[in-house]
Amino acid sequence: IVKRRLDYEKPDFLISETALTFDLFPEKTVVTSVLLVKRQNTKASHITLDGEELCLVSVSVNDKALSSDEYELNASGLKLCIDCDSVELKIVTEINPKQNTSLEGLYYTQDAYCTQCEAEGFRKITYYLDRPDVLSIFTVTIRTTDAPNKYLLSNGNLVKRYKEGDTDIAVWHDPHPKPSYLFALVAGDFDLLVDTFITRSGRVVNLELYLEKGRLQQGQHALDSLKKAMKWDEDTYGLEYDLDVYMVVAVDFFNMGAMENKGLNVFNSKFVLADAKTATDEDFFNIESIIAHEYFHNWTGNRVTCRDWFQLSLKEGLTVFRDQQFSADMSSYLSTRISQVKVMREHQFVEDTGPMSHPIRPDEVMEMNNFYTVTVYDKGAEVIRMLHTLLSAEGFRKGMDLYFARHDGEAVTCDDFVDAMATANNMDLQHFRQWYSQSGTPLIAVSKKENDLAATTEFTFTQVNPKTADQKEKSPLFVPIVAEFLDTSGKVVDAPSLTNSSIIVNEQHNSFSVEGTNLTPVLLDKFSAPVVIDYDYSIPELLHIIRYASSSYAKWDASQRVFSACIQARYAMQISNATPRGDKLINNRNTLDVQGVLSEYANVLVNADIEGDVLVELLSLPSTETARTGLKTIDPIAFEDASEYVQKSFAEHIGGHALACLSASQVATYQYSVEQVNQRALNASWLKLAVLNEDTRNAALLEIEQRYIQSDNMTDRLNCLKVCQIENIDLFDKLMSSFEQEFGHDAVIMDKWFGLHATTKRVDILAQLDLLRAHGQFTINNPNKVRALIGSFAFYNTLGFHQKHGAGYKYLGDYLLDLDKVNPQVASRIVTPLLQFESFNEPYKSLMKSQIERIFTSKGLSRDLFEKASKALTSS
Ligand code: ARG
Ligand code: ZN
Repeated sequence: IVKRRLDYEKPDFLISETALTFDLFPEKTVVTSVLLVKRQNTKASHITLDGEELCLVSVSVNDKALSSDEYELNASGLKLCIDCDSVELKIVTEINPKQNTSLEGLYYTQDAYCTQCEAEGFRKITYYLDRPDVLSIFTVTIRTTDAPNKYLLSNGNLVKRYKEGDTDIAVWHDPHPKPSYLFALVAGDFDLLVDTFITRSGRVVNLELYLEKGRLQQGQHALDSLKKAMKWDEDTYGLEYDLDVYMVVAVDFFNMGAMENKGLNVFNSKFVLADAKTATDEDFFNIESIIAHEYFHNWTGNRVTCRDWFQLSLKEGLTVFRDQQFSADMSSYLSTRISQVKVMREHQFVEDTGPMSHPIRPDEVMEMNNFYTVTVYDKGAEVIRMLHTLLSAEGFRKGMDLYFARHDGEAVTCDDFVDAMATANNMDLQHFRQWYSQSGTPLIAVSKKENDLAATTEFTFTQVNPKTADQKEKSPLFVPIVAEFLDTSGKVVDAPSLTNSSIIVNEQHNSFSVEGTNLTPVLLDKFSAPVVIDYDYSIPELLHIIRYASSSYAKWDASQRVFSACIQARYAMQISNATPRGDKLINNRNTLDVQGVLSEYANVLVNADIEGDVLVELLSLPSTETARTGLKTIDPIAFEDASEYVQKSFAEHIGGHALACLSASQVATYQYSVEQVNQRALNASWLKLAVLNEDTRNAALLEIEQRYIQSDNMTDRLNCLKVCQIENIDLFDKLMSSFEQEFGHDAVIMDKWFGLHATTKRVDILAQLDLLRAHGQFTINNPNKVRALIGSFAFYNTLGFHQKHGAGYKYLGDYLLDLDKVNPQVASRIVTPLLQFESFNEPYKSLMKSQIERIFTSKGLSRDLFEKASKALTSS
C-alpha cells in the first residue's frame, strides 16, 4: 500500500473532456460521466480508473454497454479494455452523500451538498483517472427537484440555468483544463454577498460570497480581503484572474481551512465569517491570509499544478510563502514573521523529531491526506523564502516569470520550479535542492575564537544533521544565516565578507572571520533558514542583543532564549534525570540565578525605549516546544511547573508596572487596524502579568471583569477569559456561562468556548469533557467541534492530557477509535500528540505508546491512522 515517488510513470491515457451530470438526492445521487479518453501509450490495452465506495450502474464504450464480464471491478477501481487511440466512455454510478461523514467526495450536511476532492476524493464521486497530471476540460450539469437547492454551483462559468418540469438545472463550463482534485460542486440555499473587481487588463470579475442565511454582514471582511489579494498579486507578481466569476462558499462542516477549486473556493466558515463582536483579531488575520492563500493558488496550483502528490510542496510551500508576503504587507512584518517562526519551532521541528518526519517532498506515502503537513506547507514556504533571500526580490520575480512562461497549463515538479529559478538567475542551485529531499532540522553549532594579536574573531559553524525516523544518512545542507556582530558599545561592526548580510554554511565546518574582538553575534536574524542555532550565549550577551540589535526580530529571538534558559534552569533544579542532547541553550544552565536574570531582564524592558509592537513580543514566554530546545526528553508536568514558575516570577518583577500601563491605555471603538491590534495585544499581556503579580492581582481581576462586560469586541473578551482561566476559576466559570448565554446559538463562536473549557486546569477535566460532548452544539460529525474540544485538550491541556496514570491518553485513544469510523482525516490529525511519546520521560512515554499500540491493533482501522500508528511503533 506504500506509494513511492520514484515509481512515477506517465499516464497511459488522458481525458481531454469530461462531462458530468449530477441528479442530486441526499441518499442516492446519480452521477453520469462521459469521458473523451485519449490513449498516450500505444502499448496500453487496458485502462484502470480509480473509484472507491461507489455503486456502479452501467458502463459503456462508444455507446456500447459493457456486460459485467467485460470489466473488472474491485474496491479501488474499474479496469476495462481500450485498444484504440480515442473512445467515449460513459459511466453511471450512484453515491450516498448523506451517509458520507468522511467529508471527502460529495457530502450532504445542513441541507446543502458540498464536495472536497483534494487529494483523492474525486474517486468517491465517479470512476476516473484521479491523478493531478490528467488535465481535462469539464462541463457539469446539476439537476435537482429539491426546492431548497436554490444555488447550483460548479467550476468556471455558468452556461445556463433553466427548469424542466419541476427539475432545476444548471450547466457550468470551465474552459481551463484541470485535474479532478480541483473539481467542486455546491448546491443549497445561501445569502449572497456580491461585488466586482476589474483586473488591470480590464476584465470585470464578479465576486460572489455564499454565506449561511442571515450572516451577510459577517462576510464583508473576507470580501475586502479578496479584493486586496487580487490587487496584490497583480502588483507583486503580475498575475491576473482568468474567469468572469470568483465564488467563495462558506460551510460549517469542513475537514480543513479551505480549498482552491477553480473559480469555486469552498471555505470552512470559521475562515470567512467575522465581525468585531464575534471574531478576534487573530480570526480577522487568518481570514485575510486564507482568502489570499486560496486566491493565490489560482496561479500557483491551478494554472500550474503538480505532476504527482509527492510534489505537493510545489504548490503549497510556494503559496504559503506568497500568502506570508501578502500578510506582512497588509499588517506588520514583525508579528507575522514571529508567528510563522512559532509554527516552525512548535510544530514543524516537533514533526521532524517524531515518526512522521519527512522531507518537504516526501518519498513514500500510504495515505496522501496525511501529508498536508507543517513540513510540506510551512517548511516548504521557508525553503522558498531562502530562495527569495538568495536571489533577492527581483531575482525571485524573474524566476517566477520564467516558471509561468514555461509551465502555464502544465503539471510539473519541484525540480521544474528550481530549474526556472536557476536559469532565470543564471545561478547554480544544485546544492540547495537538497532541502527538497532531506528531512530533519539541521543544528548549527557555533563557536568563537578571538585572535588578540590580529584583533579579529573567528566563528566556526559546525553543521549537525541528526538522523530522523525516515532517513539515517544525512549530508550538510546549504544554509544562509543572516548575521550581524555587535561591539561592546552596541554598534554593528562592518563585516565585508557577508554575502547579502548572510553567512553561507554549506559544509560540515565553515569558518568565518570578523574584524574586532569582544563581539556579540546576532545569528539567524529573521529566521533566515529553518535550523536551530546552538551557540553558548551568556545572559549579558542576550541582554546586549535586546538593547542594541538593529532588528526587532533578533531582540525577540534573544528574549526567547532568556526565558528558555530560566525555564530550563528551574526545570533542571526540579528534576534529576534531565538529559541534555549535548548542545547547550545557554552557559551554565544549571547554576543560573533565575530571579536575578528575570529582574535584570524586566529592568531592560522597563527602561529601554521599546516600541509597543516589539514590547508585546518581548513580554511573552516561549511555548514548551521552544523552551525545551536541546532536551531530548522531558517530564511534561515538571516542565510545565518550571514554566509557570518563570512566568510568575517575571510577573513579580514587572507586574507593578503592568497595571499602570494598562489603565493608561484608551478604549476605542473596535477596528481591525495594525495600531489597534497591537494595543489590544499589549493590554492582554499587561493584564496577564498584573494578575500574576501578588500586589496587583485583585485590582487586575476587577479590571478583567469590567473589561469583559464593557468590551465591544471578541478579542478583549477572549483575552479576559484566558487570564482568569489560569488564575481565577470562579470568575472564569461565571464569565463562561454568560458567554454561553450570549453566544450559545452560534456554532462558530461556540468553538472558542469549547476550546477554553478543554484547556482548563481541573482535576475533573475528563468528566468535564464528557459533559461538553453532550452539549447541544457538540457533534462528533463536525470537525470544528472535534478540534475545538478534543483537539485543544490533547494539544494544549498539558496537565489534563499528561496525567500520571495515563487517563488523559486513554481518553484520547478511546475517542480516536470512535472518530476514526466517522472521519478518518480528522482522527489522523488529532492523534499527533500521542505520536510524540519518544520525547517524554517514563512513565509518560510507555503510557502514550500503549495507546498507539491499542489503536494499531484495533479492527477496521482507517489507512490514515494505520500509517501513523505503524510508523510510530516501528520507529520507536
Ligand atoms: N489545498 C488546500 C489548501 O491548501 C488544502 C487541501 C487539504 N486537503 C487535505 N486532504 N487535507 O488550501
Ligand atoms: Zn494551499
